[in-house]
Amino acid sequence: MRSIMVKCDCLVIIVLVVLMSSHHPPQVSSKKTLSPDHPCQRFVLYYHDILFHGTDGANATSAMATNPTKLGNNSDFGMLVVFDDPVTRDQHLVSPPFARAQGFYFYNKKEYHSAWFAYTLVFNSSQHKGTLNIMGADLMADKTRDLSVVGGTGDFFMNRGIATFQTEEVEGSKYFRLKMDIKLYEC
Ligand SMILES: *[C@@H]1O[C@H](CO)[C@@H](O)[C@H](O)[C@H]1NC(C)=O
Ligand SMILES: *[C@@H]1O[C@H](CO)[C@@H](O)[C@H](O)[C@H]1NC(C)=O
Ligand SMILES: *[C@@H]1O[C@H](CO)[C@@H](O)[C@H](O)[C@H]1NC(C)=O
Repeated sequence: MRSIMVKCDCLVIIVLVVLMSSHHPPQVSSKKTLSPDHPCQRFVLYYHDILFHGTDGANATSAMATNPTKLGNNSDFGMLVVFDDPVTRDQHLVSPPFARAQGFYFYNKKEYHSAWFAYTLVFNSSQHKGTLNIMGADLMADKTRDLSVVGGTGDFFMNRGIATFQTEEVEGSKYFRLKMDIKLYEC
């Protein structure tokens, strides 16, 4: 009787071990290797920011929500801008918007202009419906800057990747255009 019970216990343990090993493969084998050169989806988009100057309400797409502080070297430290900016597929401001960029940036470097962004790309066209959420440091002293695409909804359900920024044009404090090279690695 006793030896039968021991045998049964062994069998149960063996079955459990087999089940566990098949359901939980080692961590290493389930880890995806992502190559920066091989996104699963890629868009090159242009972001246009027209800062409100008090009288251009019909044209402006962003506005200063906090004044810069006196800290720093005229770097607008602490100035926060809220935007609902058009995003186009080519460099022209007047081209039909492909998406909108809704969010904010603020300047956060004492020595010179450098910013931090958090925004959502809102797609509402026949081609794409959904959102991509992007955030990170826009280290303006660098020619290109990588921000994180932290997630998506709709057509971009659970997508993640990298948005590479490059400043293409600046008209004083009135207007600037960014090239956003969006590469998704989880599609
Ligand atoms: C302050 O800004 C000026 C002009 O942008 C620059 O030449 C100077 O080096 C800066 N000073 C410091 C302390 O960063
Ligand atoms: C999205 O597009 C549809 C159709 O053009 C429109 O009815 C709807 O209001 C739009 N939604 C937003 C949030 O712009
Ligand atoms: C809107 O602002 C942009 C960028 O400063 C400028 O090029 C354009 O002429 C303005 N449009 C109008 C109608 O004021």
